[in-house]
Amino acid sequence: MHYSPAFSFTARSAPVSDMSNPTTATPYGTLPAASPLPARKPVSLPRLAELRERGEKITMLTAYDATFAAVADAAGVECILVGDSLGMVCQGLASTAGVTLETMAYHVESVARGLRRVQGTAWLLGDLPFGSYHESKEQAMRSAAQLVHAGAHMIKLEGGGWTAEVVRFLVERGIPVCAHLGLTPQTVHALGGYRVQGRDDAAALALKRHALELQDAGATMLVLEMVPAALASEITQQLPRCHTIGIGAGKGTAGQVLVMHDMLGINLGKNPKFVRNFMDGASSVREAMAGYVRAVKDGSFPDDSLHAW
Ligand code: KIV
Repeated sequence: MHYSPAFSFTARSAPVSDMSNPTTATPYGTLPAASPLPARKPVSLPRLAELRERGEKITMLTAYDATFAAVADAAGVECILVGDSLGMVCQGLASTAGVTLETMAYHVESVARGLRRVQGTAWLLGDLPFGSYHESKEQAMRSAAQLVHAGAHMIKLEGGGWTAEVVRFLVERGIPVCAHLGLTPQTVHALGGYRVQGRDDAAALALKRHALELQDAGATMLVLEMVPAALASEITQQLPRCHTIGIGAGKGTAGQVLVMHDMLGINLGKNPKFVRNFMDGASSVREAMAGYVRAVKDGSFPDDSLHAW
């Protein structure tokens, strides 16, 4: 992939051919020089609340490096998550549990640099990895600060119950927090595998309670992963101040997220049921990402009859 300084990120909906109009070829997919004006207003918490208010779905994709982050931003993706899924898709680990804080900070910094370079406007989330927030609120604060220093606008952490106190501590200190309930990959072994969560009444009740506690603690986003669609919708209705972002949780959430490698069809294993390959029929990565944004916004993805439980 070759970008040139002539590539303008200001034309967010410009056809893909606009990206290949080089005046000076640059090697190694170098990002273009920053354009003098940002393409659109930066995505912020008030902007996300505004989208929710008017019923427009929020779009999120993972990205782990400068170039893919810049392409996702140019495709109109509002939120970019540097997920600890990078342990699996970038590092070849068997699960996300082996990812370290240093690795997360490295990738957050790369993505932040890429976005800055192209005057990107996406909201940037960094995942706190396993072991970096489990000991104490103070440890969580130190870890979160490292990701904020690397360029994250918001941090994400997994789990309910004990995490509410941690979330409150971080939010009181000025760090926006995204929580994560349902299938929480850092504790996949404790959950018995990558399986749907909240299926029976007791589990559904616990999920709803945890979600409310996290909103009360100040979390402004909540990833719901592999949760039955009806339960995810109910939780979404319960949380006016915390925007639910679904992955395998049906279309009733406030927004959607996918792992970039999955939606580009380059998952080395078998794609989970909740994934759609957006490269099908697309002629470029940017087009595939723009197709994802369109499909989430117009409600055609996810299709609950195919991608949900
Ligand atoms: O690590 C990650 O990419 C995630 C998403 C699957 C939500 O947590």
